[in-house]
Amino acid sequence: MRSEEFGTLDDGTTVHRWTLESAGVRVRVLTYGGIVQSAEAPDRQGDTAEVVLGFPSLKGYLDAPGFYFGALVGRYANRIAGGRFELGERTYHLAHNDGENSLHGGERGFDKRMWEAEEVDGALRLSRVSPHGEEGFPGRLEVSATYSLDENGALHIAYEAVSDAPTVVNLTNHSYFNLGGVGPDGVRRDAREHELRLVASRLTMPGEDRIPTGEPAEVAGTRFDFRAHRPVGSGIDHNFVLDKGVTPVPEEFGELYDAGSGRTLTVSTTEPGVHVYTADHFGGDPYGPCDGVALETQHFPDSPNRPDFPSAVLSPDEVYLSETVYALGVRA
Ligand code: BGC
Repeated sequence: MRSEEFGTLDDGTTVHRWTLESAGVRVRVLTYGGIVQSAEAPDRQGDTAEVVLGFPSLKGYLDAPGFYFGALVGRYANRIAGGRFELGERTYHLAHNDGENSLHGGERGFDKRMWEAEEVDGALRLSRVSPHGEEGFPGRLEVSATYSLDENGALHIAYEAVSDAPTVVNLTNHSYFNLGGVGPDGVRRDAREHELRLVASRLTMPGEDRIPTGEPAEVAGTRFDFRAHRPVGSGIDHNFVLDKGVTPVPEEFGELYDAGSGRTLTVSTTEPGVHVYTADHFGGDPYGPCDGVALETQHFPDSPNRPDFPSAVLSPDEVYLSETVYALGVRA
């Protein structure tokens, strides 16, 4: 593993980029925002190309803060209704950075923070302390994300956190994939043609403000039925309930496939849900609508206000553990 300087923040802090390589896959991660800046993998001809959307310099990320390109999202990924939740005897108030709601950890979530890097057994461990009260969340949180490539070139991201007071935690990675290759030539395949398969019979149906309403709905007979491979299309910004539920070790729940290049992305997680986002809101500079697909593994949106959803509460006597595996491959 090697690291190099990638850029400098306004306050003079140097951001480093770490490179992991295994089995023909190369992944690059920034100490700013835990961002997966690059992931390169071969197609069925053996030609390597970039498969995540990103930027060649720090400025690109700083200029597009609302899109969370490749970022480590927290303390609570996704939405919390009204930017408020109750825990114990208290009500906590968060930034309303998405209409009335809180989104992706607030005004300055984990994606916009510096992380300490260390190499541990060939893996990159990023860690930081999120102080009590940061972005309105209770509890001093010691949090880490460990990025590693296994012998098959699969990227594992393993999150761990402990808090000194009850809090809520929901961490994810916000990479946008385009398996057709996002080469320096600027030529991109339309990610709408990517085929998606999800072992998910239900999804949490959102209201207009994207907060889940009611009970999870069956996907059967709707455009959300990806139980067999189907083009992902557009207009998806939805949380799917994975049939496997919360699991102690990552279990496979789906695949993205690009017929043109033959590249596949098989995803496994310990999490109960995946938020699929087809990036319809990209403005076109440099990325246009639906240029990539995000598969954000996580607990369901607004879980802190939904006792009927798997709990996102972390107590001081517990350790938050979450792991997702992104395995790039090819189909002949
Ligand atoms: C959310 C979208 C939001 C996007 C911002 C996604 O995770 O679900 O609603 O617009 O992040 O990049």
